[in-house]
Amino acid sequence: MQKLIIHGAANDSLILVGESFENFRKYLPANKKVFVLTDDKVHSIYGNTFKDFQTIVIGQTEQVKNIETVDYIIDQLIEFKADRSAFLLVVGGGIVCDIGGFVASVYQRGIRFGFISTTLLAQVDASVGGKNGVNHRGFKNMVGVFNQPDFVICDPIMLKTLDSEDLKCGFAEIVKHTLIADAQMFEWLEQNVNEAVKLDPDAIEKLVYNSVYIKAAIVNKDEKETGERRKLNLGHTYGHAVEKVMQISHGKAVGLGLMVAAKLSMNRGLLNKSSFERVLNLLQKLNLPVEIKGNKQEILDALTMDKKREGNSIHFILMKGIGEVVIETISIEELQQVSL
Ligand SMILES: NC(=O)c1ccc[n+]([C@@H]2O[C@H](COP(=O)([O-])OP(=O)(O)OC[C@H]3O[C@@H](n4cnc5c(N)ncnc54)[C@H](O)[C@@H]3O)[C@@H](O)[C@H]2O)c1
Repeated sequence: MQKLIIHGAANDSLILVGESFENFRKYLPANKKVFVLTDDKVHSIYGNTFKDFQTIVIGQTEQVKNIETVDYIIDQLIEFKADRSAFLLVVGGGIVCDIGGFVASVYQRGIRFGFISTTLLAQVDASVGGKNGVNHRGFKNMVGVFNQPDFVICDPIMLKTLDSEDLKCGFAEIVKHTLIADAQMFEWLEQNVNEAVKLDPDAIEKLVYNSVYIKAAIVNKDEKETGERRKLNLGHTYGHAVEKVMQISHGKAVGLGLMVAAKLSMNRGLLNKSSFERVLNLLQKLNLPVEIKGNKQEILDALTMDKKREGNSIHFILMKGIGEVVIETISIEELQQVSL
């Protein structure tokens, strides 16, 4: 097991990579009543482990990541007589973690919480870094807070029960992290893609640890995303719009967002053709989509509503080779010209 710490403004977050989820009791605070939040699928597979705790079960998919679900969870907490000394143990993927972290942050002005992240995407990205929130009228993460969980348990064993579609979403965020800050890891993944996809335990632990390491280093410098942390949005500005319009999963949309960023970077002379092709080939080997099939104008319209737009220009993260990114402002016209 390997440990990392994220230093948040309000509290630190301990990230445990390779810890068994069955050891979760070791990390629960003493003298607090623990409630579990999970989704129905995770509950059906792992519910038995948490049967000693009052449990709130929500549905799946991005459609439940909204204020109505927040209302429902708050109603349940009130029914369970959860007071300010309650602790919320969130067991699930990125959707449950995003919602659970938000509810814990606002319930009775804030209760403490921890995550057992059960998808690859949550382990390498969503459960780490303290961004919690829900969507509003289809727009991603419009309502939310920065607040660090006390701990995050990332157990690779839990990934064995994931669908292959959900697994590939996590790889998109791993590729994103390597493109931002780790050319060696990108190359390692190119060479070990088969082991990674087969969930070889050593390969997965290495990839999860390295992803969290990259994210933690950035979040430790800029928790509230005033500068450096924007780099983590590589592939996301376009990806969020694609996710909304094409109604595809977050990870696949991020993969397409990475392709758009790579193309723009090549058009601007920041990324050479062979590096562009390496990005394309790796995403293809991970079975991620690389062509945009949705209505491009609708995607651009959704993108201009994205909260990352400032004024008439959009902050866009571009690749400066593999393993380095730059934050540039680009116009909608330049985006319109990108073909995939
Ligand atoms: N807060 C952040 O910094 C951040 C970063 C990246 C993504 N996100 C968010 O994460 C969300 C996507 O997360 P996700 O891809 O984990 O989706 P998810 O939570 O919907 O999980 C995907 C599916 O896998 C199932 N599942 C979860 N764990 C399982 C397991 N161990 N075995 C079998 N099935 C399992 C779930 O029930 C669900 O059907 C998006 O809403 C995205 O915006 C947040």
